[in-house]
Amino acid sequence: MKRLGILLSGRGSNFEAIADNVAAGKIPAEIAVVISNRPEARGLEVARQRGLNAVCIPSKGMEREAYDRLLIEELKKNRVDLICLAGFMRLLSAMFVREFPLRILNIHPSLLPAFPGLDAQHQALEHGVKISGCTVHFVDENLDAGPIIVQAAVPVLNDDTVETLSARILKEEHRIYTEAINIVLSGKFRIEGRRVILED
Ligand code: GAR
Repeated sequence: MKRLGILLSGRGSNFEAIADNVAAGKIPAEIAVVISNRPEARGLEVARQRGLNAVCIPSKGMEREAYDRLLIEELKKNRVDLICLAGFMRLLSAMFVREFPLRILNIHPSLLPAFPGLDAQHQALEHGVKISGCTVHFVDENLDAGPIIVQAAVPVLNDDTVETLSARILKEEHRIYTEAINIVLSGKFRIEGRRVILED
């Protein structure tokens, strides 16, 4: 059984969707560890309630590589095969990324490469796009930049607020994160340049 490591910083709804699908047998893996960089993260509490191995490694005031070394140690201790960033609001160092080549996924609430970084849904509304969505991609050493595995689009409506648009996108996030994890776990893909090509 493949072992997932989940990294989060807050609410943890993407983590919950993944955990639900693992429990329902829709992802052929187990959650080996859930790590939060914030002690107050709701996702950490949810992980504990579910009886999962939930670990807090506070990042406040820590230098990036020193922090990432702690993360690497915890993930290796738990023999994690795939790392899923689920609302983990902290940049990872190149050192961390090199440690787990093509084994780190991230979800972002926009159609990348549009609107990377913080407050993607706010950026989309400000820009006036008519379609937005979400992206699951491999993590490389640049922000929200690695090869794209799955995307989903949603309309932007006239009366949308950040909240209503975010909710519409979030529903798709919960769906495509599982889809992307299953693609990566299956190994049935190859990467050509920036393109993730699905095989059969
Ligand atoms: C999600 O919308 C996720 O796409 C976003 O944070 C939210 C976390 O929600 N991530 C980013 O913006 C990363 N740059 P959750 O904690 O309920 O999964």
